[in-house]
Amino acid sequence: VWAKVPQGPPDAILGITEAYKADSHPEKINLGVGAYRDDKGKPYVLPSVRSAEKKVVDAALNKEYAGITGVPEFTKAAARLAYGSDSPVIQEDRVAVTQSISGTGALRIGGAFLERFYPGGKTIYIPTPSWANHNAVFKDSGLRVEKYRYYNKDTIGLDFEGMVEDIKNMPKGSIVLLHACAHNPTGVDPTEDQWRSISDAVKEGGHYPFFDMAYQGFASGDTAKDAFALRHFISEGHRPCLAQSFAKNMGLYGERVGAFSIVCESTEEKKRIDSQIKILVRPLYSNPPVHGARIASEILNDSALNQQWLGEVKGMADRIIKMRALLKENLEKLGSKHDWSHITSQIGMFAYTGLTAEQMDKLAKEYSVYATKDGRISVAGITSDNVRRLAEAIYKVKG
Ligand code: LMR
Repeated sequence: VWAKVPQGPPDAILGITEAYKADSHPEKINLGVGAYRDDKGKPYVLPSVRSAEKKVVDAALNKEYAGITGVPEFTKAAARLAYGSDSPVIQEDRVAVTQSISGTGALRIGGAFLERFYPGGKTIYIPTPSWANHNAVFKDSGLRVEKYRYYNKDTIGLDFEGMVEDIKNMPKGSIVLLHACAHNPTGVDPTEDQWRSISDAVKEGGHYPFFDMAYQGFASGDTAKDAFALRHFISEGHRPCLAQSFAKNMGLYGERVGAFSIVCESTEEKKRIDSQIKILVRPLYSNPPVHGARIASEILNDSALNQQWLGEVKGMADRIIKMRALLKENLEKLGSKHDWSHITSQIGMFAYTGLTAEQMDKLAKEYSVYATKDGRISVAGITSDNVRRLAEAIYKVKG
């Protein structure tokens, strides 16, 4: 029956982990998937997550189904974290929110909702480059995917003029995907002033903004600051939708905790949208898993745990900043004549090194250093112990 099923390629990001695992080099380095490691290179369970999980277990809750849209204490708190407790959209109770299978699931629900109900063109514009999975998620949701300019490889920075020009030239009412903070894969974000102009351009085109916020807290170490773009758009009268992930900022990767929300005009509109989200989710996966959402809910709703968590997020962001500086320093010490200042000016979990696909191949084959072909490295995988070896490998490959 399956004789005609072709062999598919490995996943651009998760496939790297498979290659890394198959390598027997004792000092191999995995900078592929965006997953935080401590300074010993070990997976990190946040102490606030351990405490919250203990509270959840001690409460001996039952394992009944959550509602179709998930654990309400979690979804309400997730919306408050993103939009801000004092935001009019929260105060006026006009955000439709559903729990999702992490950020990917949130994007997929959003894509499916827009495909079914968005009255404009069913094309979503994503930045060049974007997270490797965006294209597939939206295509499989039934949307057409187009690109807008974002990254300027000559300046290793934002192509701000190109981005704004492309937004202005999109057909009226297009859907525009925006990385709310810590752009993946480049680590290059617009400044607050640039966000203001981007908001104007989106408004001028009558476009619909779709925010992907997978790294709230990871860009600046401050969750409110990282929500600037989303909150600014709302203050300008946009009514965006939003995908949130708690994989990175709570380290809940495998628990798959996320949320999808749509800012509505009124509570009445919210109720209608909510009803349709339920109709959409029910045949997809019926209702989401509860354990991770309960953990996140404890962290978001218990003020002591919340303070502790914010400190831990900042701690992760700070370690990454330190590793950026160390990598740059080591490359310079080795005598590299390239300008590596982008390593420290980029933010979030990733650095976009500017290395070519061939150079990345060489890093893997000759030095057992694994990262994605686009030259992205997960700085969260760098440690005080491996940074020197990493710098040497990059220096030998690129000079
Ligand atoms: C990444 O970009 O590495 C992460 O978002 C993990 C993933 O699912 O790709």
